[in-house]
Amino acid sequence: MTLAAFALLTAAVLAWAEPACKVPRAAPTGTAAWTAAHSSAAAAVARMSQQDKINMVTGIGWDKGPCVGNTAAISSINYPQLCLQDGPLGIRFGTGTTAFTPGIQAASTWDVELIRQRGEYLGAEARGCGVHVLLGPVAGALGKIPHGGRNWEGFGVDPYLAGIAMAETTEGIQSAGVQACAKHYIANEQELNRETMSSNVDDRTMHELYLWPFADAVHSNVASVMCSYNKLNGSWACESDKAQNGLLKKELGFQGYIVSDWNAQHTTNGAANNGMDMTMPGSDFNGRNVLWGPQLNTAVNNNQVSRARLDDMAKRILAAWYLLGQNSGYPSINIRANVQGNHKENVRAVARDGIVLLKNDGILPLKKPAKLALVGSAAVVNPQGMNACADKGCNTGALGMGWGSGSVNYPYFVAPYDALRVRAQSDGTTLGLHNSDSTSGVANVVSGADAAIVVITADSGEGYITVEGNVGDRQNLEPWHNGNQLVQAVAAANKNTIVVVHSVGPIILETILATPGVRAVVWAGLPSQENGNALVDVLYGLVSPSGKLVYTIAKKAEDYGTAVARGDDNFREGLYVDYRHFDNAKIEPRFEFGFGLSYTNFTYSALQTTTTATITPGPAGGPTIPGGPSDLWDTVATVTATITNTGAVAGAEVAQLYLSLPPSAPPSPPRQLRGFAKLKLEPGASGTATFKLRRRDLSYWDTGRQQWVVPSGVFGVSVGASSRDVRLEGSLQV
Ligand code: NOJ
Repeated sequence: MTLAAFALLTAAVLAWAEPACKVPRAAPTGTAAWTAAHSSAAAAVARMSQQDKINMVTGIGWDKGPCVGNTAAISSINYPQLCLQDGPLGIRFGTGTTAFTPGIQAASTWDVELIRQRGEYLGAEARGCGVHVLLGPVAGALGKIPHGGRNWEGFGVDPYLAGIAMAETTEGIQSAGVQACAKHYIANEQELNRETMSSNVDDRTMHELYLWPFADAVHSNVASVMCSYNKLNGSWACESDKAQNGLLKKELGFQGYIVSDWNAQHTTNGAANNGMDMTMPGSDFNGRNVLWGPQLNTAVNNNQVSRARLDDMAKRILAAWYLLGQNSGYPSINIRANVQGNHKENVRAVARDGIVLLKNDGILPLKKPAKLALVGSAAVVNPQGMNACADKGCNTGALGMGWGSGSVNYPYFVAPYDALRVRAQSDGTTLGLHNSDSTSGVANVVSGADAAIVVITADSGEGYITVEGNVGDRQNLEPWHNGNQLVQAVAAANKNTIVVVHSVGPIILETILATPGVRAVVWAGLPSQENGNALVDVLYGLVSPSGKLVYTIAKKAEDYGTAVARGDDNFREGLYVDYRHFDNAKIEPRFEFGFGLSYTNFTYSALQTTTTATITPGPAGGPTIPGGPSDLWDTVATVTATITNTGAVAGAEVAQLYLSLPPSAPPSPPRQLRGFAKLKLEPGASGTATFKLRRRDLSYWDTGRQQWVVPSGVFGVSVGASSRDVRLEGSLQV
């Protein structure tokens, strides 16, 4: 071992043993890029006045600049006015920008290449608009409450899948030289009382569920993290020493900066001394109540906040800026630039490949029907205009995304009717339309058609907008606009009914599935601007559907075991959210996590498991790199399986690997997702699904030792087509 390596290791071991400190030091190790960025930052900080530093860490005030968040330029170091802009699916308020698919749709593809490309394109557009910090991706809400208003902004309720998507998206965005911002940190699971309630989360659950995907973002060198509105275990997230200094900066070795959610700061000193590094927007939404700026200056002068802490804030912000190379040749800010390029191709691919086929008795794919009928207000674009409702705060017309700050303008919008009409014309199909949710008169339109397609929706969003009585979170898990009755009315008049669902999250489908004449259910999710095109691609079999559910669809809402909390939320369900809960409590879901049909069939064979010498029981103990102890990220085992397309058409299969921990581990969910692979296969072709298991994938969080520990014994390995459709079983001995 070299002297330098020894020194780093010793520092890591020492840092490990210490309690969370108030002024975090830079993590013991980091990537070479961070090290270089921090040294450039330190040199710049040395040239800055105290006022410069205050300006760097304090937004200029709400609605005062070109972006949703802005800081002042600092001429002494050639630092520009920094632009922070929403958000996770494109450039908010852009007029020449792409409306990418929401995170939930990207996750539903389970396609890391598409997810990566989506991130790259997001980054390219942000850069083209001169946006320095793009406020995404989202891993909180994770989605433990199916009604949660903002679940659709993130990547589904499984932390492993969300973590992979966080990593790919962060790296994609940052490959364009744009700072990504992982949000909302942390345990921000509902909209009701989001600014007052406390999420009280036990240590193990925090690590294994809520922190997990943020660790992936940190491992991918995310530049910034946004602390959330809620309290964590009684402290505001933006002044939680444990969450910010303890977990993020020390345990995960996060090298970048923590920016507040807009107005999530509550005190001058509490935020500064507990790890927050930048306040946004710098004032309240009335332009008053400035908590840093002159207040922070006074606090530093009075030694209530140390000069070292202020320097650390500035250094972290500057390091992120240098890390992304934004110190040279960065475009000037123009949110209205036209930067779409060919990015709509990614939107269509994600919209299409995120569609999950839930039921099909053979009616799909359609084959040149003579007469088709299309039903529902969601079949056509909002009659007031595709961008008529500010921040998408209405559910009128076809649905492409939820509402709130995580929404963007559509540059164009292809509704189901627009795309079906084109296809019908080329096939010589007569297409009838009933573009309302009223049952009256619908029978006339659908009777006699070869098939009737009825489009229903469920919407949700951020709590500052109320839509049809839903204050962000959904009031229930029913389809909106009497969707059940509409489907019943259609199916009563046409026994070849196809139900298309555009939804932010699960809805209860029992009524619809029990309706005679409903022959197919197409879960089309949130397809953004390519809504209709993606649907037609799947309905007509241009591609086989290949999306899989990223949440469970229950038989009834109570089965989830979680609900929007009226006061504080004690997270009593612990690790048992979504499928972890259904499996543990032995509740039969209607459609399980990971489920999705295809137009073809796949068989699974030849499960093989190989382990490496590093697969030893016990705690991870490597030096801290961004993301945690370095050895957590090492591959310790590889599992492979052969997947064969045994059907008649091309298709893609998402093979999934679930692990069961050995009995020596504390009580744990029966099965947890720890790998997936999407294989595109021609009829008759076989491919190999390869699952690389990292040390972290085999570990549980040991609350006593405060370490990730690999338990000894026999791990169960289940590989299959969903969390319940296990096709191959094996084991791993540690
Ligand atoms: C509040 C939201 O929670 C956050 O996601 C967003 O980035 C900011 N507002 C800025 O619009």
